[in-house]
Amino acid sequence: MRVGVLVSGSGRNLQALLDAEAAGRLGRARIAVVVSNQPGVLALERAARAEKPTAVVPHRGQPSRQAFEDALLAALAPHGVELVVLAGFMRILTGHFLGRFPDRVVNIHPALLPSFPGVDAQGQALAHGVKITGCTVHLVDEGTDTGPILAQAAVPVLPEDDHGALARRILAEELRLLPAVVAELSQGRLVREGRRAWIRP
Ligand code: GRF
Repeated sequence: MRVGVLVSGSGRNLQALLDAEAAGRLGRARIAVVVSNQPGVLALERAARAEKPTAVVPHRGQPSRQAFEDALLAALAPHGVELVVLAGFMRILTGHFLGRFPDRVVNIHPALLPSFPGVDAQGQALAHGVKITGCTVHLVDEGTDTGPILAQAAVPVLPEDDHGALARRILAEELRLLPAVVAELSQGRLVREGRRAWIRP
């Protein structure tokens, strides 16, 4: 299964996917291309070190959201992408893009959705005083972090936690969960019943 990974920043989730592929832990998934909406980010260096094709599609300066999404689609097209993984990708995608990959765009979010969608989910959890948070891999729909949930991992919040400590603990689980779900998606069959979705082996 050829995978296109969309990134915007440091690429730690991308690195986890690259490492999993190199270690034979990504099932039939193979990363075919890495596309960033930001030039010069570490994620692009990580992709280049792994000798993966990369592309930069700036969202800034695009005449419309649709033009940006058409440029993203054009960057993915030559690589025969069958699954799109958002790994720290910080742009919202509309039905224009998602319609080209029905039930084939997944995202990793650093909270147990539906709690704490949007930005700084880690800080939201800390501020709310929850005792358990975590991360979620979900299918992307047109909302913000609202698509059907595929997998979750729980992470304890400790009394002495500050933002950084909690974010690091959640990230460790993200880096384990995302490759595991991508591997399962490459070998299994996605089953959906309304909002409920899971991967049949
Ligand atoms: C991760 O915490 C991810 O869950 C969130 O953005 C962060 C990006 O990290 N969507 P990276 O770019 O993968 O290092």
